[in-house]
Amino acid sequence: MAATQIPEVVLESSNGRRTMPVLGFGTAADNLQPEVLVAAVLDAIKLGYRHFDTAAVYGSEQSLGEAIAQALKLGLVGSRDDLFITSKLWPNDAHPHLVIHALNKSLHNLQLEYLDLYLIHWPISALPGKLSFSIAEKDLMPMDFKGVWAAMEEAQRLGLTKSIGVSNFSSKKIEDLLSFATIPPSVDQVEMSPFWQQKKLRDFCKANGIVVTAFSPLGAIGTSWGTNYVLESKVLNEIAEARGKTVAQVCIRWVYQVGATLAVKSYNKERLKQNAQVFDWELSQEDLDKISQIPQRKMMLKEELISANGPYKSLEDLWDGEI
Ligand code: A2P
Repeated sequence: MAATQIPEVVLESSNGRRTMPVLGFGTAADNLQPEVLVAAVLDAIKLGYRHFDTAAVYGSEQSLGEAIAQALKLGLVGSRDDLFITSKLWPNDAHPHLVIHALNKSLHNLQLEYLDLYLIHWPISALPGKLSFSIAEKDLMPMDFKGVWAAMEEAQRLGLTKSIGVSNFSSKKIEDLLSFATIPPSVDQVEMSPFWQQKKLRDFCKANGIVVTAFSPLGAIGTSWGTNYVLESKVLNEIAEARGKTVAQVCIRWVYQVGATLAVKSYNKERLKQNAQVFDWELSQEDLDKISQIPQRKMMLKEELISANGPYKSLEDLWDGEI
């Protein structure tokens, strides 16, 4: 298998100007068998992937850690420093006094001494205790953004993570964060695909030196929260056919070409390989114009975070109109 050279971007606020490979491998999946994930990560490393994305709530940290340990043992990578590993703080742990503990738990699961990037998973907190993917309405709490961010900064200063950032934050929520942050977020990881292009957020992040990472760039097809309208899009299929590429490659190339980075999932070696073959060709201006005309449709609204007594009373509140 020939390895692809994946381009990298500099994370300006990282400890030591860390670079991040623009194409990452995502590990959020329903009921994925640990051995399938371990095998896919090893295949991905052989194909040239170096950036792996997980989260405390995905249940994939342990398998990813196992795969990293095996890759090091097999000599597939020279050292841990050659990899870029992201994990995320779940709302149950998004309290100032719990951040470092939660990060240490992720490190323990991953068998690592440091993360490359640690993200606040959602702009909301929940009753401390067991992490649960679906949070009961009564457990939703407003986040102490200042206190949680200060703890994230402390984690970076302590070297537990090289960079810190956020996920699912609107431009307004980042703007608020920037008003008190002493270390600005390096990354905002959000839903982004040709069907949810995030133009406003991308412009805001660019102006503030923040890298946008797209999750579900293929619409997370095949997952319980995913959709088929991205890969079945007529416009994208026409562009793919004309270029002799697949729709997945068109989506991935589009994210890269508009200046964002991405975490894509595949547990299939051929598709992993295909998804990395997007750096030696281009979409034309005409292709980009056609994609920019695609009617927008957000896949993940996260209605379960809306509650009369919680911090967000409406989807407008949660997304600050970026919906
Ligand atoms: P599979 O693991 O069978 O390849 P997203 O990255 O938007 O979350 O989408 C992930 C989903 O897209 C997975 O179900 C994955 O299935 C599928 N997928 C990944 N790469 C491709 C591809 N090149 N062509 C078609 N489906 C793909």
